[in-house]
Amino acid sequence: MPKTLIEPFRIKSVEPIRMTTRADRERLLQESKLNVFKLRAEDVLIDWLTDSGTGAMSSRQWGAIMEGDESYAGARSFYRLEKVIQDITGMPYFVPTHQGRAAEKVLFAATCKAGDLVPNNCHFDTTRGNLESMGVEAVDCVVAEGLQPATLAPFKGNIDLEKVEAVLQKEGARIPFGMLTVTNNTGGGQPVSMANIRAYAALLKKYGKPFIMDVCRFAENAMFIKMRESGYENTPIRAIVQEMFSYADGATMSAKKDGMVNIGGFIVLRSDAWLDAVKNGLIMMEGFPTYGGMAGRDLEALAVGLEEGMEEDYLRYRLRTAEYLGERLEAAGVGFVKPTGGHAVYIDARTVLPDMPVAHYPAWALCNALYLEGGIRGVEIGSVMFGKRLADGTETYHSMELVRLAFPRRMYTQSHFDYAAEVIAELKDKAASIRGVRITKQPQFLRHFTCECDWV
Ligand SMILES: Cc1ncc(COP(=O)(O)O)c(C=O)c1O
Repeated sequence: MPKTLIEPFRIKSVEPIRMTTRADRERLLQESKLNVFKLRAEDVLIDWLTDSGTGAMSSRQWGAIMEGDESYAGARSFYRLEKVIQDITGMPYFVPTHQGRAAEKVLFAATCKAGDLVPNNCHFDTTRGNLESMGVEAVDCVVAEGLQPATLAPFKGNIDLEKVEAVLQKEGARIPFGMLTVTNNTGGGQPVSMANIRAYAALLKKYGKPFIMDVCRFAENAMFIKMRESGYENTPIRAIVQEMFSYADGATMSAKKDGMVNIGGFIVLRSDAWLDAVKNGLIMMEGFPTYGGMAGRDLEALAVGLEEGMEEDYLRYRLRTAEYLGERLEAAGVGFVKPTGGHAVYIDARTVLPDMPVAHYPAWALCNALYLEGGIRGVEIGSVMFGKRLADGTETYHSMELVRLAFPRRMYTQSHFDYAAEVIAELKDKAASIRGVRITKQPQFLRHFTCECDWV
């Protein structure tokens, strides 16, 4: 058997990407105030800023787009998608939204109030933002190894059952439901085991709390279960997915991930207890319940994409791409969050720039160097993103300095990954020439998106 795991698709339509010179990139980055978020996408060669909504749709999805029924109420496309989602999730109530954060906002507005508390393995930043803006406390209870980049463990996204039980005991009256994010994006795209999902569901049941899953990457999580959890080796992905959902009372999803579409999201619920409140909120914030912020054509593309996202050959290739880049980085002596997750590789910038002071933002510096050296765009997950400015002008720094390379689905081939691995290895060799930055202008919140920097 050949060892190479190939891309399980061939290319029908191509989008050129543009090579730039080093001199071009020096100028473009300077014009962008040393912040890669400000670059134009056409000036980026390999864009690994995010896996969200950036993937390639299949010819079947593009075909389905022409079937879109754009009726305001009761569109055929809604019922088609509803059937697919009911089959996958086993939940009868489906509410479409335009993307994941809208699903969160609508569900939380219907179910939470100021003073409440919601536990999760790790809240994604929009989930946390939606809760905190309502005065709800968002508590992360991921297992300890989930916060240790170098520790190897199969399910680093698991929720710590003891920790979450202590929260349930102490704060039960404040908790409207428990959440679990699969895979755990904030913690490196790490999966959650079926045993952990089952045990957490039982715990929530014991305390009389509903169980809501954030299922952006449910298919990638299911593939990890198949590959790593004993007893599931021969179980079809669809059956694993159905079992995962069987333990939950509801879910929110950004379909821009494992839905294989460029826009879309939804809420599913097992009971109709919250349904009226959810639908009323949806009408105010998103749209009528049979389209909820999506065009009929997008509902059609999602109905096909959800099925394609569960294909085993695709998922095997998908997880292998991250693992492959990890192997190349390992060989080059570059540290990263281990094992590699489903949708991204998180480089530990301190292993490339061990001598750079944290005040010079090493992960941000490495992000800029990746663009300058090879036209690659990643995202800093370090002290620019999570550092806190104090009243006296000093800062507290983040515990990790990571650069996330997140892979759009079905878009880049192995040679793109080989190229990136070479660029990163070269950067490690010339680390002494990589320059740190200082922030010259920043907004009060979420400064990484818009801040301006200069070289130190
Ligand atoms: C785990 C998780 N939850 C929620 C969201 C929010 O989804 P969206 O970007 O579609 O609003 C994301 C997006 O990256 C995510 O990764």
